[in-house]
Amino acid sequence: MTTAPRVLVVGSGIAGLTAALRALDDGCRVTVLTKDTLDHTATAHAQGGIAGAVFAGDTTDAHLHDTLVAGAGWNDPEAVRVLVDEGPLRIRELVDLGVAFDRDADGRLMRGLEAAHSYPRILHAGGDATGRALQDALSSRIRSRGVEIRENTLAVDLVLRDGRAVGVDVLAGRDRQVIDADAVILATGGAGLLYPHTTNPAVATGDGVAVALRAGARVDDLEFVQFHPTVLAAGEAFLVSEAVRGEGAVLRDDSGHRFALDAHPDGELAPRDVVSRAIADAMLRQNGRPVELDATGIRGTESETRAFLASRFPTIHDAVTARGIDWAVAPVPVTPAAHYLMGGVTTDLDGRTSIPGLYAVGEVARTGVHGANRLASNSLLEGAVFGARAGAVVAPDARSRAWPSARQSTPARRAASAVDAPPFTRTALQALMWEHAGLVRNADGLAHAASVLAVWGPASAPSTAAEIEDANLLLVARAVVDAALARSGSAGAHHRSDDPVDAHRHVEVAPC
Ligand code: SIN
Repeated sequence: MTTAPRVLVVGSGIAGLTAALRALDDGCRVTVLTKDTLDHTATAHAQGGIAGAVFAGDTTDAHLHDTLVAGAGWNDPEAVRVLVDEGPLRIRELVDLGVAFDRDADGRLMRGLEAAHSYPRILHAGGDATGRALQDALSSRIRSRGVEIRENTLAVDLVLRDGRAVGVDVLAGRDRQVIDADAVILATGGAGLLYPHTTNPAVATGDGVAVALRAGARVDDLEFVQFHPTVLAAGEAFLVSEAVRGEGAVLRDDSGHRFALDAHPDGELAPRDVVSRAIADAMLRQNGRPVELDATGIRGTESETRAFLASRFPTIHDAVTARGIDWAVAPVPVTPAAHYLMGGVTTDLDGRTSIPGLYAVGEVARTGVHGANRLASNSLLEGAVFGARAGAVVAPDARSRAWPSARQSTPARRAASAVDAPPFTRTALQALMWEHAGLVRNADGLAHAASVLAVWGPASAPSTAAEIEDANLLLVARAVVDAALARSGSAGAHHRSDDPVDAHRHVEVAPC
């Protein structure tokens, strides 16, 4: 190939834009496609921060160890090694790009602590608006580089020729058209909209996984869905960052008891799946009422605490205040909600999928770094590290045409069996997933969900964006349920009440 390779990046969060910038540096012609606007991404919603072994006293080995422990050992150690080793360099590049990570009065980077980290290694910006700062910096750089940006354009299907990705069939307004490409990078984020309660923005309808499934790409680990422990249970769902617990807030049930300590010696800072289940159990004991996140008194007096919360967590402070709660004096009601898909389109260490010419980065990808439960603040890091790696190989891959042979798979179709199923709606699908494929699953519930999902589809020739999103959710829901049925034991975020002991680690985690 003598002309510049055409690269189509689908999605505009940290992973997609990092890949786009890297491919541009390599002489590619890059188009960024997004079904909403460039800045409307899950990245922009991220609060906690970005983890990295960048502070004296911390080590990449410790970061690796924490990631493996949180992932219950189901991570790919090689991928985690890449993540923690390359993370600090990617973070420095973000600083060079203009991301103003928070600094103390002496100009030193501030460090936050979040659950399951053995060291305070989380960088944050704007207090709890880290994702917004990253998105702004990356979007502004992309715009300044003259990249073609196609907003309000939904990727519907991959176009394949001789088993290789050669473009994407898109819906722009009412028009269907094909955008040709030498390489397609999926960076579409997650699938939080599978559930009625989620921290994800409304765009998270599993589109990338669905596109990959329909094309026959390999997917893995879809049973590993992370539920964030603390989402405001007053008004519209709103994430209350784990960093709040990192700063000392505790969880209490109706009787004021710190129940998280009963579940794990690290209490509120135990791995996220453990804390979420402890909250769900506590809620069950109190007839479904949310538990309380108590940040009162975490910085001395009432006014000192209020001032600290307002400056360290301005976004959350505004959301809590808007709900009429003064969290310096009163605890806030919280409940778990769907947050992150650890599984996805299976990739190698450079984002290559099983389909030549198709790459996946960020939440849509299953790189193997997260295992069965993602460590807090590793998601932005994964986007930066693996986005850069994929962006760096697309041009050489396209120029050499040295594609690995395609290993496509056909998603198994389950025969519809007699089951009482309500008519399909997105709300009905979300309710089904919450009940049977949520925080706690079992064989009977999953089998019931699988039967209902089989009755529901596929939708005949979806044509509007909403219909295509619904079809995507349905396809991904089936894949999640099938994966959850196939894994009969518990592992991290995949918790089976019919085999609850999480004793299925396949990687020995050495002490650091
Ligand atoms: C949070 O701020 O608690 C979310 C961060 C993450 O998901 O890593």
